[in-house]
Amino acid sequence: MIEVKGVHKSFGDLKVLTGVDLQIPKGQITVILGRSGVGKSVLLKHIIGLIRPDRGRIWIDKVDITRLGDKDLTEMRKRFGMLFQDAALFDSMNVGANVAFPLREHTKLNEEDIKTIVAHKLEQVGLPGLEEKMPAELSGGMKRRVGLARAIALDPEIVLFDEPTAGLDPPMAESIEHLIIETQRRLERTFVAITHSIHTAFHIAHKIAMLHEGRIIEEGSPEAFRGSSNQVVHTFLIRGEHEEQER
Ligand SMILES: Nc1ncnc2c1ncn2[C@@H]1O[C@H](COP(=O)(O)OP(=O)(O)OP(=O)(O)O)[C@@H](O)[C@H]1O
Ligand SMILES: [Mg+2]
Repeated sequence: MIEVKGVHKSFGDLKVLTGVDLQIPKGQITVILGRSGVGKSVLLKHIIGLIRPDRGRIWIDKVDITRLGDKDLTEMRKRFGMLFQDAALFDSMNVGANVAFPLREHTKLNEEDIKTIVAHKLEQVGLPGLEEKMPAELSGGMKRRVGLARAIALDPEIVLFDEPTAGLDPPMAESIEHLIIETQRRLERTFVAITHSIHTAFHIAHKIAMLHEGRIIEEGSPEAFRGSSNQVVHTFLIRGEHEEQER
């Protein structure tokens, strides 16, 4: 359903993406794995149309989004929900207002309907009745849950996660991973997560793709990925075993 083909992106002299090819299947969880600074967030921003590539194409369901004008791009973005790195909640708004935000921005629903949807989404992420709390009162894991509730508020076809477990302690990371798996099973939508955590990748992914030096160097099922003969993948997996022991 999402296809990235030959995507190049540089910032000044810094070549970040140098020919990314990737297919993201519909109705599954795809994880893009790669070390810090490799360009994962940049790639994700291309998929949601926040950054335009220097070269290459990105198709969302047969629509080449690199050819869309700003208006169509904004329209297309409504099909996406995004959980940003560190949840990115609005600190001055309570939890209910945070989750309601996309509904108020993009729909003409009345307040009563918004209230019902917000309550339902908070229930789905395991935080029923938390509308009145302020983000500052929440743990890191709870913030991610609220971020997820906001990301799925508009029932998007595609949900993107930027480092959903970074900075969380292991049990909290584990519970967010469970939440992602459960939510995807229930909604049957296309989920794309980027992470540098091998543990997270293997826990949640139907498909893993590894970004390294500007390209996808390996992709496939977790089993196939584990059996990769690529030396860089191999080294990364060994590092992941250490990460595992630290958990
Ligand atoms: N708008 C921008 N302008 C200039 N450089 C940028 C911009 N966005 C990203 N970069 C650079 O591109 C490189 C890749 O950044 P990116 O944020 O995609 O990495 P990442 O893989 O998401 O890393 P992390 O795991 O730390 O989040 C970095 O060197 C970053 O400084
Ligand atoms: Mg990033």
